[in-house]
Amino acid sequence: MDAAWPTSLTRFAGVIGWPVSHSLSPAMHNAAFRALGLDWAYLAFPIEPRHVEEAVRGLFRAGCAGLNVTIPHKHAVLACCDEVTPAVEAIGAANTLVPLPDGRIRGDNTDAQGFLRALDEAAPVDLAGADVLMIGAGGAARAIAFALRGRGARLRVANRTPGKAGELGEAVPFTPEAIAAAAAGAVLVVNATSLGMGSDEVPADLPVAPLGPGTVAYDIVYRREPTPWLVAAAGQGARTVDGLGMLLHQGAAAFAQWTGADPPLGAMRAGLLAS
Ligand code: ATR
Repeated sequence: MDAAWPTSLTRFAGVIGWPVSHSLSPAMHNAAFRALGLDWAYLAFPIEPRHVEEAVRGLFRAGCAGLNVTIPHKHAVLACCDEVTPAVEAIGAANTLVPLPDGRIRGDNTDAQGFLRALDEAAPVDLAGADVLMIGAGGAARAIAFALRGRGARLRVANRTPGKAGELGEAVPFTPEAIAAAAAGAVLVVNATSLGMGSDEVPADLPVAPLGPGTVAYDIVYRREPTPWLVAAAGQGARTVDGLGMLLHQGAAAFAQWTGADPPLGAMRAGLLAS
């Protein structure tokens, strides 16, 4: 790295979370800045929940050019937003903060677009009027439900805590039998939980048997190797989408808003894979 870098002209962006040391966003965005020759740096800021509002305002006062927001702050940052996009209104959470020229802060949620762009890239499927099964009803699932509604899908949701499922779609009991039956009629099955993140086994609650060649299996869990569930789905002939694409495209949509530049997707993907 250039010994004279960063300089007094270097711009900065970053991600706030608690904890945040696991975040892959610095690797992805710094690779993008390098690829475009932008004199920008992207940092990870560990912010305790009780300090979120003052940290966000302070970072922007100090010239921060853009923030991503990760767990557990995606809802709390709404208190700092002077305007929010329709996606934020529908999802109730922001993952991207943009400083406007007049000093106000805009909140956006790029998770929904990230989800759809990754799907369109890896396994395009016509969702209008189509049955979709989602497993999970947490924060990521809310963004995915918004994205799927926008495409006109008929969404069924299975979640360990059943009340949350009914808020996002038609609730399906959280049993292996009910989940498998719902998956059998779906063109797209999404795992929006953290199930399978740290295991080499297919979790008992994720369906495999009904995932044939007519189905897309989409796992938002990101691991370097495909998750066991995606491996099993591919073995049945299903088309598969992994969590890397969603991570990439939600980041790319934020990058475009901060820099005004076209995101260099190849460099960003390589940055993620190298991290
Ligand atoms: P995120 O922002 O990543 O979506 P979250 O809001 O904490 O994180 O949501 C996690 C999701 O994974 C929820 O749907 C959660 O189910 P509950 O609503 O019942 O908590 C689901 N989840 C996490 N661990 C799970 C497990 N061991 N079995 C089943 N579902 C699990």
